[in-house]
Parts: sequence; structure tokens; C-alpha cells
Amino acid sequence: MDQKPLFPKDFHWGAASSAFQVEGGIENMDWAQAAREGRVPLIGAACDHYHRYNEDFDLVKELGHNAYRFSVEWARIEPEEGVFSEDALEHYVEVLRALHVRGITPYVTLWHFTLPLWFSESGGWERKDAPQLFARYCGRVVQKLGPLSTHFATINEPVVYASNGWIRGIWPPFHIFSPIRGMGIIKPVLEKDEQPAKTLYTPRAYVRIRRALARAHNRAYHRIKAECPTAQVSIVKNVIVFEGGGNPVHRLMAFVMNYHWTFSFMRKVAKRCDEIGLNYYFYRRFGDTATYEKTDMHWDMVPEKIESALCILWRYKKPLYVAEAGLADAADSRRAAYIRGTVRGIGRALNRGVTVTGCMYWSLLDNYELAAGFEYRFGLIEVNYDTLERTVRPSAYVYKSIIEAHGTNLEDSV
Ligand code: BGC
Repeated sequence: MDQKPLFPKDFHWGAASSAFQVEGGIENMDWAQAAREGRVPLIGAACDHYHRYNEDFDLVKELGHNAYRFSVEWARIEPEEGVFSEDALEHYVEVLRALHVRGITPYVTLWHFTLPLWFSESGGWERKDAPQLFARYCGRVVQKLGPLSTHFATINEPVVYASNGWIRGIWPPFHIFSPIRGMGIIKPVLEKDEQPAKTLYTPRAYVRIRRALARAHNRAYHRIKAECPTAQVSIVKNVIVFEGGGNPVHRLMAFVMNYHWTFSFMRKVAKRCDEIGLNYYFYRRFGDTATYEKTDMHWDMVPEKIESALCILWRYKKPLYVAEAGLADAADSRRAAYIRGTVRGIGRALNRGVTVTGCMYWSLLDNYELAAGFEYRFGLIEVNYDTLERTVRPSAYVYKSIIEAHGTNLEDSV
């Protein structure tokens, strides 16, 4: 039987969201533009969290959370290059105050996938000065919000972003890498007047983007520290746990994939992190023949393996927090078990000596899932997109009881 997990008394229990997935009404950014072009589903008013955050934070409080991770929207804050909107910054000051009066610790993410149009249309992360521009933006935000928050994450899931935008071609800017076609050896055969659906890219572009993102983080780190020396700066890294079992070939494959997905990026930024955020969704064991229960998105449910994801990041010896872990489950029939498994996995990592300071379930509210729209339901709180009414799901109360017991009641049928 497991040792009881040692969750510290000041552990941060909460949920996460990102601006464009819940706020609504952001039109001057690349995803909104892609939606207007019919390349991704429309976002529109989303959950209208921009106007309803007080109501939502009342629920957060009622659910026993003591932390909340959210992102601020670059396109609102810097709508034109070098022009910062005081109104937008004031809005986020109000959001932070609303958290503080409820005793909820904020974790602010400065960039969660969406780009202001002036930036994306002038080359985005391919611009030579992109890291400087990003660092300037981060510095300005922290100058304003620094007095109200300790935790600032620069970039959410840099490798996912680069791979979906420059390899798989499913997110803006929709560049696709095909090993042969991407090198220009084979050109796509197009009918007369037909436009190529995606731009074919070489892997060099993908590597360049990853490098630019690492540089952007490192520059932003220094800017943030200059504005607010006490800020705890992190990057949020999606870790896919690759394992190989007993077979040496599978072990080699797992090593290569963990290196490619996690270590090769983290080694560039880890020194400039005071803490590191983990997003965990996927476990891959080469040669695995087991079948797993699936989420609504057909992702395998292996929540306990978050323990391995935490151990993977622990090699950098920085305090870790779980910035996201969760599932799409419209019926709410698997979410409670998933949360229990996640907390169990974190507890095991704590018992192995890994420093973990928080757990934010993804997501607080149902929201716009990239690039699938509003069909998939990740929320502890259900959102009716016609009326914008919120309904707390039963699993949210299970999470509440886990929080109240500090993760010691996982064997009970809570
Ligand atoms: C992202 C979220 C997303 C979630 C579920 C994470 O990769 O940070 O924005 O909604 O996964 O797909």
C-alpha cells in the first residue's frame, strides 16, 4: 500500500484557464483571424469570462481552491506595436484584486499561444527581433502586475506550439513539414487555380522557432526580474512521458523522444527559471499492448503517470507546479477518477523527494479547445454557451473534498 502523500500545508490547489479560450471578444489576434478565414472554429464570446470573472471566482472560492492560473492577452495589452493599453492592464489589475480578496493565489501566464495581429502579420516568431519584442511586452506587464502577483510564466508549451504551427500545420501559422516535400524534393501537384492548403516548411523553420522561443523566455526572464526582483518566473512545459520497458530498442526510442520533446528544449531555459510549470496529458510506452480508458478526445487516460512527468522535470532541481492536467469528459463520468489519479501521482512524486508546490486542474470552465471549438468539455464547471450559465459538475466537489483532506483521502470513495 502507498505511503500517505505528503502534501505541504501551503500547497496550491486550483484550476487553470487561458485568456482566448474563455474571455471572448478578442478579435485582433491570429486565431481570431484564422477563424474569420474558416481555418479554425469561431471563438466569439467564448465563456465571457472577461466580464464574468467575479462570478467565476466566487465559484472558485466555493470549490475550496486557493490558487488560479490564467493568462493575460498580449493582443489586448499591446494592440499595436509598442503601444500598450492602460485599460487592458487595468482590467488585469482588477482580475488580480478579485483573486486576492478571495484569498486565491494567482499564477499569471504571459503568453498562451495567441499573437497580436501586428506581430503575426509581420512575421511573428520568425521576426529576428521577436525575443526582444516579447521581453518588452513581458516587462511592461510585470511592471504593472508585479505588485499583485508572485508567479509569472512566460510561455505556455513552447514545443507543442512549434510543432502544431510548423510541423503538423494545424494551428496558426499553419506551416506543415513533410520530410520529403518539406525539403522541396517533391512539389505538391495542384489543380489549376488551386492554392496549397498549407505552406510546406523545412524542419529548419521548426528548429528556428523553438530556438526563438527559448531566447524569448531567457530575455523575458531578465526583463521581468529587472521590473520585479521577487517574481517567481517559470516556463510551462508540456511533458509527454515516453517509456521503453524492458526492451533495449524501446528504451532507446523513449530516450530519443524524451530528449527531443523535453530535454533539448529545457536545457536552453532551465537556468532562467525560478520554478517550472508542468502540463501533463500523454503517456507513451513503446511496445505497449495495453488498452486504456479514453477521454472524449480519445486520449488515453493514464493520470498517475504524472509522477514520471514530474520526475522528468525534477532533473533541473527547480520547484515544480502542475500548471495543467485534465480531460475532456462531457458526461463527467471519468473526471473524478482522473483527478484522484493525478493527485495520487503528484503525491508519489512528493514522496520521492520532488518539490511540487501546486496542482491546477485543466480547466476551470468548459472552453474553446484548440483547434476543435466548443465541443469538448474540460471544465470543472459546465458552461451553457447559449445562456452562459455556469453549472458546477459533481467531480468539482470530489476535487474539493481532496483539497480539504490535503490529498489524504484518495483511497476513500470520494
Ligand atoms: C493547452 C490548453 C489546451 C489543453 C487541452 C494544453 O496543451 O495549454 O490550452 O486546451 O492542452 O488540449
